[in-house]
Amino acid sequence: MAETWATLGVDLHLEPTGPGLRRGLTDALREAVRTGRLTPGTRLPSSRSLAADLGIARNTVADAYADLVAEGWLTARQGSGTRVAERVAAPAHPAPARRPAEHARPAYDLRPGTPDLSSFPRTEWLRAARRAVTAAPHGALGYGDGRGRPELRSALAGYLARVRGVRTGAENLLVCGGVAHGLVLLAGVLRARGVHTVAVEAYGLHVHRDLLTRAGLRTIPLPVDGRGADTGALGDAGAVLLTPAHQFPTGVPLHPERRAAVVDWAHRTGGLVLEDDYDGEFRYDRQPVGALQGLDPEHVVYLGTASKSLAPGLRLGWVVLPPSLVGDALDDPASRTPGVLDQLTLAQFLGSGAYDRHVRSARLRYRRRRDALVAALAEHAPDVGVTGIAAGLHAVLQLPPGTEQQVVRAAAWHGLAVHGLSMFRHPHTTVAPRDALVVGYGTPPDHAWTGALDALRRALP
Ligand SMILES: Cc1ncc(COP(=O)(O)O)c(C=O)c1O
Repeated sequence: MAETWATLGVDLHLEPTGPGLRRGLTDALREAVRTGRLTPGTRLPSSRSLAADLGIARNTVADAYADLVAEGWLTARQGSGTRVAERVAAPAHPAPARRPAEHARPAYDLRPGTPDLSSFPRTEWLRAARRAVTAAPHGALGYGDGRGRPELRSALAGYLARVRGVRTGAENLLVCGGVAHGLVLLAGVLRARGVHTVAVEAYGLHVHRDLLTRAGLRTIPLPVDGRGADTGALGDAGAVLLTPAHQFPTGVPLHPERRAAVVDWAHRTGGLVLEDDYDGEFRYDRQPVGALQGLDPEHVVYLGTASKSLAPGLRLGWVVLPPSLVGDALDDPASRTPGVLDQLTLAQFLGSGAYDRHVRSARLRYRRRRDALVAALAEHAPDVGVTGIAAGLHAVLQLPPGTEQQVVRAAAWHGLAVHGLSMFRHPHTTVAPRDALVVGYGTPPDHAWTGALDALRRALP
């Protein structure tokens, strides 16, 4: 007979009120499983009876269960209820508390942001690393130029000119630890120039907004529509952060009129445009949308990254600066470049053509996945509109009003992690919220792609 919650006698250490209740319950249950107080296979009480026991809302319990199913601590099957997952081994001794990122993974992950790490070109990268280390002069292992290795800066300047239409020489290019690091540097430069306000897209990456806020800058949201960010709403901003080639997360390119308008604004006011070109290489259906920087290298700062094309763990990115700002960026104590051997390896990788080959084959693979996603939705969820698919590694699935959170929960129930569009919404925007899922189709390794699609299909209305 199934055990009841009362006979389990597990002390959940819960605060019975407050906004952190769901999180508190999730943490307490996870801790109980992790430390072995709830053993594998144990059936948990129904959400209704646990809610009654604890005197809290049933939804709070259902949400906590769904979170833990998505993380892999619990399993949920129709007919046999919610149980502690069999594969969660109870440690002999309680382990110290772990950070959320280290918790068990969901079975399938369609959250945007990470490419297919299983297709990282290990053999080619090793070959490039061997060549790079062999050829590096002793002096390359010293502190060196604060902008990064000259070999990499020249290779990037050539590559970006050819592929993205960026206009720069190696002298204005700074190697950094990804777009996030580049933004930290730029925030310092902006503050030093007396800028207080940066306009950002009303839908965007909260990590980037937070970086700016932490650096003492105020962010104001620009409405985002089918033509990208509304560049007519820049107000008194001293700079604007945009994703012009492929708006993140809605997926639309910035309309040519708005591209021209924002460059004109920068020219007129002395404002700075920060162009985040995070996935510019992955464009499928149309001619590539070139970098905005090519229109006005004096007023547009270009930020690029290897996080989508290769892997985010490399922490390799680049900033192309207007010549007048290079000195300011280097003055910043945060301007330390990534390790020199990785820089030299990337320079080799670019120079040998391995980067182009890798991007070409990755583009083909992602395109096939995107097509499979669109076909599966057309067949199983014809009412769900798909947008933002001309480029990048994610698509936006339009949902009926009021259903987003329900679908995210249902997905978790099926072992699938996805993000709703609301997660990316600027807290101060007045644009009407839209219900949608932002589905990253890059992340699952090939063998998990069909399963991920299946779980998504079952979660959709
Ligand atoms: C909008 C956007 N910009 C940039 C990045 C890459 O950032 P980083 O280079 O810091 O890894 C991402 C990755 O998810 C992104 O979504």
